[in-house]
Amino acid sequence: MKLWEGRFTQESAKSADDFNQSLSFDYKLYWHDILASIAHAKMLGETQIIPKEESDKICDALVNILADIEKGNLEIKGAEDIHTFVEGELTKRIGAIGKKLHTARSRNDQVATDLRLYTKDSIVNICGCLKTLINTLLDIANNNIQYIMPGYTHLQKAQPVSLAQYVNAYSEMFLRDIERFTDCYKRTDVMPLGSGALAGTDFPIDRRMTASLLSFSELSQNSVDAVSDRDFVAEYIFCCSLTMTHLSRFCEDLILYASDEFRFVEIADAYSTGSSIMPQKKNPDILELIRGKTGRVYGNLTGILTVLKGIPLAYDKDLQEDKEALFGAEETVINCLTIFNEVLQNLSFDTKRMRAAAGAGFTTATDVADYLVQKGLPFRDAHAVTGQIVRYCIENNKTLDRLDLFVYQSFSSLFDEDILQRVRVGKSVEARKVIGGSARSAVRENIRSISRRLSRMFKDKE
Ligand code: ARG
Repeated sequence: MKLWEGRFTQESAKSADDFNQSLSFDYKLYWHDILASIAHAKMLGETQIIPKEESDKICDALVNILADIEKGNLEIKGAEDIHTFVEGELTKRIGAIGKKLHTARSRNDQVATDLRLYTKDSIVNICGCLKTLINTLLDIANNNIQYIMPGYTHLQKAQPVSLAQYVNAYSEMFLRDIERFTDCYKRTDVMPLGSGALAGTDFPIDRRMTASLLSFSELSQNSVDAVSDRDFVAEYIFCCSLTMTHLSRFCEDLILYASDEFRFVEIADAYSTGSSIMPQKKNPDILELIRGKTGRVYGNLTGILTVLKGIPLAYDKDLQEDKEALFGAEETVINCLTIFNEVLQNLSFDTKRMRAAAGAGFTTATDVADYLVQKGLPFRDAHAVTGQIVRYCIENNKTLDRLDLFVYQSFSSLFDEDILQRVRVGKSVEARKVIGGSARSAVRENIRSISRRLSRMFKDKE
């Protein structure tokens, strides 16, 4: 039976029903739909819009429906969408009283409410995965403060950095992701129920009561906006997209670092794949897949933005497209965060190779220039002198730390014995004691600050 069949004289075409339905994907909302209906029914009873006994009956039946679905005793099928399914099942169980549940409500405010409830829970879930990942990164950082690797710009060796500092860089990104999701949560935490189809309702409902039963912090203040607003979906998928960006960059780094050209890291066999033809190969498929799946989340973001850009106020059926975009992004992000965390926990670092690579390629040339500046030379001149020294090294097959003092002094009389210490990789890293720098003390402080911010973010949520 159709919710609207009173108005129609013709049966709908099966093809049209199939095309119109959303149950095949919005079944995922069952929990939140039933919860929202229980709250709504309770409120209808409390405000005596329907008799209290009827409200109790509806609530009991809804609780049983939920339990049956959870236990696998009730299959979700045979309806247009999850809202119709639940209402149909309710009426099957308690008869005509079930039909009263939809008093003072439309599917337009209902679906927006369900999806917001779902999104709030999903945000909490994703933040949990991000927290787990950051904790793994903090462990890795703590174990690798003393190790040095080359830092790159333009993928050319630039300056030596601490391995822990490099790892912390990703923690900073994932911390911002948690912050961003948390902010998105605030705008999602607004209850549209009570907006009706678009104009509100003439029943004396108590929206505050429903909101407090559903743990919504705020009520929507404009019913026309409330039923058509999916900004929170777009924002949520954007948050997912940026998390995927960070994961994808990390994967790209690790794919490079695992290659024979670098060999800085080794991905555990359990998380690698072989080649069907080349027996020597060990491929980073998992990391490549995470990098690749980033594309679909961006696709979902473009999808929802495109859906929203041209629809007239208020609700339009285009909005049904919001769910697959959201569910798809959610599934990809959670799967990727989970498997990536495992890959990281099983990653090994070749710190010797990293250290050796950090010393090659004149990565301490900036230190030479800084040395001259500290002796009074303007930076631009210091830069030029150092450039000449590097060229000399290249032409004479030397490195900065294997150059005789007299050679340094032939380029500038400002050089003293201590330059030979200063150009060592370890010294270079330790010299950068500035907040955020590569020195051990700074990296330790960075680790402490990451842990502090992480626990603060979760304390706020309790
Ligand atoms: N399945 C619909 C959706 O996801 C529910 C809302 C239907 N509202 C309507 N006016 N047809 O958007």
